Amino acid sequence: MARLPFIAGNWKMNKTVGEALDLVRELKGAVSGVKEVEVAVAPPFTSLHAVHKELEGSSIRLAAQNLYWEEKGAFTGEISPLMLKEVGCQYVIIGHSERRQFFGESDETVNRRIKAALAQGLRVIFCVGETLRDREEGKTFPLIEKQMEGGLKGLDGQGMGEMVIAYEPVWAIGTGKTATPEQAEEVHRFIRSKIQKLYSREVTEKIRIQYGGSVTPENIRSLMNQPDVDGALVGGASLKAESFSKIVRFKEM
Ligand code: 13P
Repeated sequence: MARLPFIAGNWKMNKTVGEALDLVRELKGAVSGVKEVEVAVAPPFTSLHAVHKELEGSSIRLAAQNLYWEEKGAFTGEISPLMLKEVGCQYVIIGHSERRQFFGESDETVNRRIKAALAQGLRVIFCVGETLRDREEGKTFPLIEKQMEGGLKGLDGQGMGEMVIAYEPVWAIGTGKTATPEQAEEVHRFIRSKIQKLYSREVTEKIRIQYGGSVTPENIRSLMNQPDVDGALVGGASLKAESFSKIVRFKEM
């Protein structure tokens, strides 16, 4: 079964509303006519509504970078799944390594977030990845396994084929040090085999695994050539329409 490549731009804490609108306007033109690649952008919360309006009639999808698991209430500074749905989000990134590293997210809170997102019909981009130290100590696979078991705890196979897993080695994020296609494939294959153990064959074949970490127009093609690499979660290079659209157009390069 062929999986539709999925390229998403994680803007992190970048772009004012005005800048966000400029970028998506340019992006719409730059990726128009691209077929058989799903494209998404994940602006900061403050730009979601405006970007959603700007994307009307376009095939570019909207993602948020985080959410909180409660429906509503006294949770100052948090955003609920319903609030994201209302502003037009189809996807939400959960468990990004920056959230884990700087904001104390654990496998348990990631799990709560994933469940809340799915309950509201949001599609999840679930991030996993090892630090340089984990890798050097030979702990990459056990760590990824722990993150997957923790993050997916209590989730049956229902709708799991729609989930996206983003493998983002922490040492490759924003460092210009991309994993080699072979390193990426090795972990992607491991992730898929773990999915196979947890869920059905159908889910295993359907689930898309993105690679993230210093993806550029120059390295996307060799990464996408790997059988288990189904897309990319792009940080820095997604902040300019020119570089992001080249990544989206990887088949033409
Ligand atoms: P960079 O592409 O800037 O390395 O960031 C990757 C990332 O963290 C995407 O979520």
